[in-house]
Amino acid sequence: MIPNTIYTRPIWLDSDQQTLNVIDQRQLPHIISILNLKTADDVIMAIREMVVRGAPLIGVTAAYGVYLSVVNSKNRDNPDNYLKQECERIKSSRPTAVNLFWAVDRMIEKVCGVKTFSDRLDAARQEAESITEAEVENCRLIGVHGLSLLQHLAAEKPKKPLQVLTHCNAGWLACVEHGTATAPIYAAFEAGMDIHVWVDETRPLNQGARLTAWELGRRGVSHTVITDNAGGHLMQHGLVDVVIVGSDRATRTGDIANKIGTYLKALAAWDNRIPFYVALPSSTFDWQMTNGLTDIPIEVRDPDEVRYIQGLATDQLSRILIPPETSPAANFAFDVTPARLITGLITERGVCRSGEADILRLFPEHAE
Ligand code: MRU
Repeated sequence: MIPNTIYTRPIWLDSDQQTLNVIDQRQLPHIISILNLKTADDVIMAIREMVVRGAPLIGVTAAYGVYLSVVNSKNRDNPDNYLKQECERIKSSRPTAVNLFWAVDRMIEKVCGVKTFSDRLDAARQEAESITEAEVENCRLIGVHGLSLLQHLAAEKPKKPLQVLTHCNAGWLACVEHGTATAPIYAAFEAGMDIHVWVDETRPLNQGARLTAWELGRRGVSHTVITDNAGGHLMQHGLVDVVIVGSDRATRTGDIANKIGTYLKALAAWDNRIPFYVALPSSTFDWQMTNGLTDIPIEVRDPDEVRYIQGLATDQLSRILIPPETSPAANFAFDVTPARLITGLITERGVCRSGEADILRLFPEHAE
């Protein structure tokens, strides 16, 4: 930890150009610790163990993972083969967020075929930087488009705070800057709107309670952490005006995979006629897929993430066992919300309905 540093990005390339620095999100909000990644193995560990997480950040980290592989390819007998193998290994770190595969493929396209080591190094660094800055700009634009939407909803209930519910962490920690689901929230807050956020704790790893609450608190955005089961009750009692979540992979037909429990929020929102929006950059679309339920791979993680809970106990992080020692647990990390339950998608190109024709109107380059 660097004392008194206020971090505004979860990832940055060190001035030595050989070290990727990341905030260790496993330890937030109680400990701010920076990990130094130097190899593809370090990057794979960071993605797999969720030192870094969130679809756009996984993509950016993977892009720098390819860059580090180029750095480390210098004295290899066959740098091309080495690079290809490292790219495949990076791709195998987590299965659901499509940004991972998208970013590595973009890097391969730019780097392979470049002849000299130094040109290859420059090409890899430039492409990783360009992916990073494009994601920052995409998230900023999601904020711009989402703000109009929130202003519209706020106009329907003057003199009362606009109540937003969000699930997991789709904030700057998941995305480099702004966030996806949080971008409209930050934009509304900065525009002076009276806004309050219900933050789902998001078991098992509590990305809502640990990360979203930390982000919102640092910015001064009014928020309340709730259990994952509370959202339906709040909706039934008129305490939620809009739900905004992020996504890890969306099909071209508008089904979206997001953190486990998102589907239940969408069902409750549907039953209570509450708008349910998904904020995502174009890098989160899987343009090959048409059926989210059958096509999107759902990560199953270590059951111990369900069995144990981590928190601060007298000055240090501790893990506590919840169920009986011998009870098995299952840890499905994502679920799929079908397009029919989604009011709209907030993208960098604007807001659209969650259906193939509407999505392709915004992204015509992906029409067949
Ligand atoms: O398992 P994670 O933490 O990598 O899951 C990603 C998420 O935080 C979400 O599902 C998020 O809403 C989409 S990424 C902006």
